[in-house]
Amino acid sequence: MKKVRAGIAGVVGRGQIYVDPMLECKDEVEITAICDIKEDGMKMYAEKIGGDVKCFTNYEEMVDSGLCDVVIIATPMPCHVPQSIYALERDINVVCEVAAAVTIDECRELYRAVKKSKAQYMMAENCVFYKEAMITKGMIEAGLLGEVHYAQSQYLHELQFMGGTNWRDHDLWAANYCTHNLGPMLSWLNNERIVKICCIGSGRHPEYNGVVGKREKANVMLCKTESGRLMEVRIDLDTKGPYQLPYEVDGDLGRVIIERVSPTSDTKVHLANEDFDQTRYAEEWKTLQYYEREFLPKSWVEATRKIPNTGHSRADYVMVVEIIRALAEGRKLPIDIDMAMNMTLPGILSKESFLNGGEWIDVPDLSKEV
Ligand SMILES: NC(=O)c1ccc[n+]([C@@H]2O[C@H](COP(=O)([O-])OP(=O)(O)OC[C@H]3O[C@@H](n4cnc5c(N)ncnc54)[C@H](O)[C@@H]3O)[C@@H](O)[C@H]2O)c1
Repeated sequence: MKKVRAGIAGVVGRGQIYVDPMLECKDEVEITAICDIKEDGMKMYAEKIGGDVKCFTNYEEMVDSGLCDVVIIATPMPCHVPQSIYALERDINVVCEVAAAVTIDECRELYRAVKKSKAQYMMAENCVFYKEAMITKGMIEAGLLGEVHYAQSQYLHELQFMGGTNWRDHDLWAANYCTHNLGPMLSWLNNERIVKICCIGSGRHPEYNGVVGKREKANVMLCKTESGRLMEVRIDLDTKGPYQLPYEVDGDLGRVIIERVSPTSDTKVHLANEDFDQTRYAEEWKTLQYYEREFLPKSWVEATRKIPNTGHSRADYVMVVEIIRALAEGRKLPIDIDMAMNMTLPGILSKESFLNGGEWIDVPDLSKEV
């Protein structure tokens, strides 16, 4: 097995979550390069990684250095497409943080670049790797829920609006930060394509020092899939309260409710094919843990055996291990460009719908355009 040489861009920010799992998988991967515009901040990571790791303050120089088989792009969202395309044009594998792009034109450019490149592209949507999401996926694939017709999820995360001093203040609005919701839900629906969306907000904006934000506080997006299934996403980046990321999925034979995924999960599962007594409503729920032994992939259990409960309940760690193993063994990366677009396009279009009073917008099928 060939050792993968990895370069991490944005290592002082989100990129740091890749360091520990990669150091753990040292037989399969070597971090050969790190990059950040914060030169001083990089020193700590260079020391931790050790060896001959090279530091770059310029992303293109890192890509051109010949040191990387894969680049991790964990820089702010507006950098994602230019940096992804730069590496793909040089046939260097790309693992890019969420979302994949910020405009529809960028999605098209990225899609074309991926199809042209000999390298692989993955969007690093970590929530797909939550233990609860993976158990639910196993149950759905085994037919326990029957035909799935509906899923919903909410991203409730106060980001502290700072009046425009951070890229998040400008770039996160309507439901465009929806990949954490759509990721697991699409993995349950076998990535069925979302064909139209609509989005409305709650009419109240965040404010800081007299500066009013573009986004509204609560935003709800509805998504219709090719076969007519419904997904509902609520994004609230401004209401004060603890971080919450609940999910639900419903099928003919039952319902899974994941009340929260972090730091410990509260889940309810009801399957109609078990003895069900309506009058004993509360006791009829099982927990997801009841199904864990049968449906949690062995690779999840192995990847997390040695690590504490950190990094989005270990989902980050599992995702990085899956990426490294796939590259080292020459397999397909777990989330391809089609799934990346199915998570990214609805969010971008949610802005257009939001600005037009919640009208339904068709989502382009990029696979038909290339
Ligand atoms: N999956 C998750 O749970 C999760 C969590 C947090 C952030 N993210 C995603 O990760 C990305 C980064 O988020 P963040 O909060 O770390 O942002 P950030 O603003 O802190 O930026 C990340 C890092 O990139 C560096 N950087 C900025 N421009 C650069 C450039 N041109 N070249 C090299 N380095 C550059 C910054 O100095 C910083 O250290 C975003 O796309 C965000 O959506 C994902």
